[in-house]
Amino acid sequence: MQIISYCTQEVIKNAAKALIDGFLVAFPTETVYGLGADATHEMAVSRIYSVKGRPIGHPLIVHISSAKHIDKWAIDVPEYAVDLAKEFWPGPMTLVLKRSNLAKDFITGGQDNVGLRVPNHPVAIELLKEFEMQGGLGVAGPSANKFSAVSPTSASAVEEEIGADLVIGDLILDGGRCSIGVESTILDCTQKYPIILRPGQVTHEEIEKCIGVKIDLRYSKSEIRVSGLLESHYSPKAKVVLDVEPNPGVGFIAMENIPTPQGAIRLGSPKTIQEYAFNIYAALRSGDKKKLTEIVVIQPSGGGLAVAIRERLGKAAQK
Ligand code: TXA
Ligand code: MG
Repeated sequence: MQIISYCTQEVIKNAAKALIDGFLVAFPTETVYGLGADATHEMAVSRIYSVKGRPIGHPLIVHISSAKHIDKWAIDVPEYAVDLAKEFWPGPMTLVLKRSNLAKDFITGGQDNVGLRVPNHPVAIELLKEFEMQGGLGVAGPSANKFSAVSPTSASAVEEEIGADLVIGDLILDGGRCSIGVESTILDCTQKYPIILRPGQVTHEEIEKCIGVKIDLRYSKSEIRVSGLLESHYSPKAKVVLDVEPNPGVGFIAMENIPTPQGAIRLGSPKTIQEYAFNIYAALRSGDKKKLTEIVVIQPSGGGLAVAIRERLGKAAQK
């Protein structure tokens, strides 16, 4: 395995070739780092599962360079999904659509639908374009962490998580820190109106504004299985406890205006919600590096990205 810091055109070409040849390429996106494999290559995709320690049967998001390629992977795409793609791609939104024959069971977990996303990061876009130039059709990309652990938002976090499980020929592309820091909004688009399966930076208000109808927020309404919907997820090794006064020696993450309680070890002090999302996974990781056994997190209030942060923290605390 090799980590590459300067993603020149030559590097991108080699990385695309590595994908075509069945190797894994971890790549930056604006949300979190993905662990990429050719989404039509069953052996390569099966390595994603073994490297992540992810149970078989959990579906993978397929990344494409542009909405033009939706029809390769999906059929019966509703008009509202086309509108959403136009508005929010490239960007932090995944659309779950009825699958075409290209989306095999090893990608969809045997379900009749497929998750698609066009990421908004120059390295990801260049990689996808080059991969498509070399004959590729889509890159399967779950977050590049061990199953149920914290998603990586930097190349060094990818290396810490899965570096030991990668082999010669696999690559980690370093594109700096992910600008958003929490995973994409996932929308079930297999019904009359979209249903939010996982909140993210694209908010339900923005989705409603785009499609002109009120949408359902009850995640349970969807019949679709999402591994991130398991109760425990996004967890560091330390126990995460929400919204309590920490004891001395315990890690502490809260907005900057909340003072550090006596004896607590401050791990994060974001000034804004954007900064909260940008830092939260790195802050949780830093607690593990300090070998803390417990981290208290004071959740951010409000709508928008704060909804996504609270959803992730709720799961991180369910250990
Ligand atoms: O921001 C993101 O979405 C990142 C970057 C790398 O694109 N990817 C990501 O992938 O978060 P992952 O696998 O860690 O989380 C995607 C979630 C999983 O819970 C998976 O089960 C669900 O999306 N998912 C993928 N395809 C699906 C499908 N066809 N139907 C329902 N859920 C799906
Ligand atoms: Mg994940």
